[in-house]
Amino acid sequence: MIVRKTLFLWIVLLFGLQSLYATPLAEQFKQFGYVEICDKKHEEATFNSLYAKFDEFIELLQTTPVWAQKLYSAKERFIRSKDRNYYSTDFFGLYDESKREGRSQISFYYSTHFHEFIFSFYPEFKKVPEITRFFEACYEIQKPYGELFEEVTAELGLETIFSSKYGHPPILFKVMKYLPSYITPKPHYDGTAFSLFLNSTDDRSLLLSPYKSSFTVDDFYSPLRQNSILLIPGALLTEFSIYPTPHIVLQSGKIRYAAIAFAMRPNYTPQKTQYSPLPNFKP
Ligand SMILES: [Fe+2]
Repeated sequence: MIVRKTLFLWIVLLFGLQSLYATPLAEQFKQFGYVEICDKKHEEATFNSLYAKFDEFIELLQTTPVWAQKLYSAKERFIRSKDRNYYSTDFFGLYDESKREGRSQISFYYSTHFHEFIFSFYPEFKKVPEITRFFEACYEIQKPYGELFEEVTAELGLETIFSSKYGHPPILFKVMKYLPSYITPKPHYDGTAFSLFLNSTDDRSLLLSPYKSSFTVDDFYSPLRQNSILLIPGALLTEFSIYPTPHIVLQSGKIRYAAIAFAMRPNYTPQKTQYSPLPNFKP
C-alpha cells in the first residue's frame, strides 16, 4: 500500500489528482503509449558525468583491444552462468557499431550481476580507472529504479512478474552514444517488461506511438517532458493485454547520449507474438 502511495505521489506531481484516478496506468499506456513520471533522483549533471565516463571507457576499449577482448570473453562467460537467466537476455557489455554504416552508435548494457561477475573473475578490471569509474557511475544511476519498477507493477496488479530468489526486479541499464552519421532506422519494440527513458542529450528526437493494429509515420510523436522520465511497456507483457510501445530515435546529425533502464523478467521465455508492422521513416 505504501508502495502504491509513493507512485501516486510521483504521478500526481505531474498529472494532478483528477487525471490520475480517471486514468489508471494501463489506460495511460493504451492512450498515450507512455507514462511520464516526475523524477528527482538524479541531476542532469550526474548524467553528463556518466556520458563523460562512457567516452573515457570507449576510448580505452577502442585504443586497447586487449581490454575489449577481455570484456567480450567476460560477457560470453556471463551468459553461460546461472545469473543470466535472471535477466532472460544475452545483451550485456559493449556493442561498438561506430563503424557500421548508418548504425553509427555505441551501447553498453550494464547489470549489477554482470559487474560483480567481471570483478570477481577478472580482478585486473578493478585496476583500470576508466572501467571502475564508468561501472560505478552505472551502478549508482540504475540503483533507485528497482523500487520504481516494483511500484509500477504493483499498481498494475502484476507483482509476480519479478518473482525470483533475488527479490527485486532485474534491471538492465543501457548507456548509448549516437554518432553524427547515425541514420534514422525503422521504429522498434523493446524486448523488455518496461523501458524507462531516464535521460538524453536530445529528448526531441525520441518519437513513440501508443500500440495500434496498424501504424503510419504520423502516429509517432515526441512526448513533452520537463525534468521527468518516461515509462513505456515492452514486449514481455502481452499475456496481461499490455502491448508494447513502438519508438524511434531520429537522426540529428549530432552526437546524442541517452540512458535507459530496462526492467526484465526473471526466468522468462518470450512468447512468439506477431506485433503490428512498423512504418519506414524517410530521413
Ligand atoms: Fe528501444
